[in-house]
Amino acid sequence: MLHLKTVDLKKTKTETLVIPVCEDIQIHDNSAIVSVIDKAKKLKEFKGEKDDEVILYNPPAVKAERVILLGLGKTKEIDFEKLRKMSGRAVKKCIRKNLSQVLIAVPSFRKIKMEMSQVLEPLLEGAFLGNHIFDRYKKEKKLKALKTINFLVEPDTAKVFRKLPVQVEAVCKGTVFARDWVNTPSNDKRPEQFARSITTQARKVNLKVNILTEKDLKQKKFGAMLAVAKGSSSKPCMVVLEYAPKNFKTTVVLVGKGVTFDSGGINLKPTGSLENMKMDMGGAATVAAALIATAELKPKIRVIGVLPVVENMLSGDAFRPGDIVKSFSGKTVEIGNTDAEGRLILADAMSYAVKKYKPKVLIDVATLTGACVVALGEKIAGVFSFDNDLAETIIKSGEKTYERCWQLPMPEDYKELLKSDFADINNMANTRWAGAITAALFLSEFVSDTRWAHIDIAGPAYIKKENAYCPAGGTGFGVRLICDVIEKLGR
Ligand code: BES
Ligand code: MN
Ligand code: ZN
Repeated sequence: MLHLKTVDLKKTKTETLVIPVCEDIQIHDNSAIVSVIDKAKKLKEFKGEKDDEVILYNPPAVKAERVILLGLGKTKEIDFEKLRKMSGRAVKKCIRKNLSQVLIAVPSFRKIKMEMSQVLEPLLEGAFLGNHIFDRYKKEKKLKALKTINFLVEPDTAKVFRKLPVQVEAVCKGTVFARDWVNTPSNDKRPEQFARSITTQARKVNLKVNILTEKDLKQKKFGAMLAVAKGSSSKPCMVVLEYAPKNFKTTVVLVGKGVTFDSGGINLKPTGSLENMKMDMGGAATVAAALIATAELKPKIRVIGVLPVVENMLSGDAFRPGDIVKSFSGKTVEIGNTDAEGRLILADAMSYAVKKYKPKVLIDVATLTGACVVALGEKIAGVFSFDNDLAETIIKSGEKTYERCWQLPMPEDYKELLKSDFADINNMANTRWAGAITAALFLSEFVSDTRWAHIDIAGPAYIKKENAYCPAGGTGFGVRLICDVIEKLGR
């Protein structure tokens, strides 16, 4: 779908050409493009300022039916995210015009003082992601994704970066998978169905898939996870995805929270908190999608995804506040609150992963706490780790992909807040403060001394309003970030 192209704009017919424009300096080398920009800038309404926009039909300098000029603002203010947003907007504009393809003029990297790869990668990402439409549940499909997105570059650039479109597509396809899974309503992704859907996609890219069924979970004594699943008529399962290259030296395990619907259980959530709880498998979606992308990117390390998949429901069989369950690790847990279910399934999944795979690094991704959203808002994820290097690696990747993360502390003395009078630990802290931190501290009790980080994506996993390159709903937050982290760990 994404292609780098070199065409002569004066000779080749183009349906739609998009030109990003800066207000201060000329950022294009191509003379035909420069003359279109000069013409546009003579108009009162277009100066190249941020969010400026004008469309010229059949301008004389190029053989294009329409040229969409988009303002980027000042050159020195350009960053990766502005480029992503620009190409995302461009693609969405074309979709709304019912077009099927577009040619986006890539600015001269020398003029905006960036490396070519730094310009191209975000442009390709924004375009691919902006082209995503989730209309599976609409009878009338009003909008159609573009079939082809071309980028106009110099011949040598096309040659040097010929592999880039394939790589960007692999990663961004992952993001789109994660979004679609999150967007799927809970009635169509009961645990067994969700696991099947992951399996189908994972097999297509030759990942090894292993599923621990409810029977296996019982036999292996995943007591915490089984407690959460008890209230649901759908059986829980643990999906294990494995990417293992020949002669790998290092193993990384990714664990993702897969609660296909979080009602809160007996501690039922109130109206207002229930409506978007189909997104509570966002962590599992991100991890599964990152593995699918990894299978195509082929790094030199082994990557394993462990996905505990359950539904948190109420029934006569549901687990209760006050219950004490025995986790896979052997530690007993008093249930202080059935709505703190994520940490229960993660605890079992993580201690299983540590025991079975002895990973060099363990990262879990979860829509874990409302408290993290209170602390960091809806656009920034919380990162927790005793290993500051690992946290820093994650944060740096997030800066690159604009899936922003912020490290929060895990003070040892706060562990007291999780004390139980009857069991080894309580799943609910005895204070309303620092909920994201106490959740992370709970998890830390189940990873032994493995190098581990926890990413709380409760805020950014889902958006209620569309943005430049993501429709309303699941965002696929973390897929690009995890792929970048894996690339670094595999070096
Ligand atoms: N799935 C929720 C967290 C959540 C909240 C995700 C908002 C996305 C948006 C989690 O299982 C939960 O219910 N957490 C409780 C924990 C509490 C009972 C200790 C919370 O955050 O209120
Ligand atoms: Mn909950
Ligand atoms: Zn939850």
